[in-house]
Amino acid sequence: MKPIYFPEPFRIKSVEPLKMLTRQEREKKIAEANYNVFYLASRDVYIDLLTDSGTNAMSTNQWAGVMVGDESYAGAECYYHVQENAQKIFGMPYIQLVHQGRAAEKVLLPILLQGKKYAIANMHFDTTRAHVELSGARAIDCVVPEALDTTKYYDFKGNMDCDRLEQYIKELGADNIGVIIMTITNNSAGGQPVSIENIRKTRAIAKKHGIKFMIDAARYAENAYFVKQREKEFQNKTIQEIIAAEFEGADCFTMSAKKDAIVNMGGLIGCRDKALFELIKQRCISFEGFITYGGMSGRDIEALAVGLEEGTSEDYLKYRIGQMQYLAGRLEEAGIPFQSPVGGHAVFVDAKKLLPHIPYYEFPAQALCIELYKEAGIRACDIGSYMLGNDPDTGKQLEADFEFSRLAIPRRVYTQSHLDVIADALINIKERASTIKGYKIVEEPPILRHFTAKLKPIS
Ligand code: F0G
Repeated sequence: MKPIYFPEPFRIKSVEPLKMLTRQEREKKIAEANYNVFYLASRDVYIDLLTDSGTNAMSTNQWAGVMVGDESYAGAECYYHVQENAQKIFGMPYIQLVHQGRAAEKVLLPILLQGKKYAIANMHFDTTRAHVELSGARAIDCVVPEALDTTKYYDFKGNMDCDRLEQYIKELGADNIGVIIMTITNNSAGGQPVSIENIRKTRAIAKKHGIKFMIDAARYAENAYFVKQREKEFQNKTIQEIIAAEFEGADCFTMSAKKDAIVNMGGLIGCRDKALFELIKQRCISFEGFITYGGMSGRDIEALAVGLEEGTSEDYLKYRIGQMQYLAGRLEEAGIPFQSPVGGHAVFVDAKKLLPHIPYYEFPAQALCIELYKEAGIRACDIGSYMLGNDPDTGKQLEADFEFSRLAIPRRVYTQSHLDVIADALINIKERASTIKGYKIVEEPPILRHFTAKLKPIS
């Protein structure tokens, strides 16, 4: 079937010019960047798929909100607006603003993990893992086995493996586990959705054992769209009703608003328990700022209040998820392997399958990202062993379950022809895949190394 493109439910009022360097120039730039795409200047990138986080295009209403934003230190109007919208959408009485998702993690996780040894999640995003470790605990991933086979169709590859979760609780002791986290969508497994049935089941297990249940809600609206498409009970529900079901009964959530709230900066923490909220507020004042601005400027808070609502529009989500499905459709036609069915914010190309001759410790997904840049000025990122890093106890390179090169699509930014450029570049790379070499690390920091490590091609 020919890939379908759902037309944009908006028109374009303001544009940013782009320039494509020559192949020779790109080869020089990536070498100067130590073969780490995070060191590239954005002016040297033609299509930037590094992340869908904070790279979104805002609407006219959001830009109008920027002008209306109230910059008062305490009790700004936009604070009440965002509170009202967040309480309505997430159904939690206590909402704290922070400047992004990892700030929410920094504030909340040490509270939940105090005196505890473990956090268990369907999968931890890398900053979540880092904040679990910084709190002195260990992060355990517990995703369903279906997620590990990228070629196998499964509706909810983001789900928690509930049997394994029960087993972990038995082995490790409920008292040692500070929190059970459900990441929706499951970014590290490929932007894969989690079913409401699975959220309910996981929540019940957490409750039974007296463990806090937290949602990492970065892509709560994209998750809701998949639930509507794939979970029978919800096919006639509105996106708003499905979001309410996602958060129902959760003790708390952290959220990077830089994704589904379609803004460039922002984050939220939500909870139901007043005593927990008091602790959150205290840490927020120390690390982020007074509780009514939480590290944000008033203009960004107002844009966030508007974006929270826009991000739940079903027309918008159909176009948004449709972009992933179009790109994935083109790759499928060309026999390029990716996490299938495609997820909500990105196409995760399976570099382990495309470059089987490169072992995990020579970072096949990173190698593919470098090729994409050389080929067409496309910047993607490694979600594999390169990103996973070393075992914090032994210092040895860990082997990731996946070697993905992630093509994350910013919201409302690129057109169908940009997606075609991406597909064509990958098709060209596939033809010379066997000649592509791996990389070695020559310099690395101890934590979150992928941002700043330096690499060299293996000759
Ligand atoms: N949780 C998830 C599931 C995420 O995807 C991210 C960020 C965070 C937490 C942290 O949020 O960046 O606002 O501090 N993900 C981005 C990405 C960076 O590219 O996937 P943040």
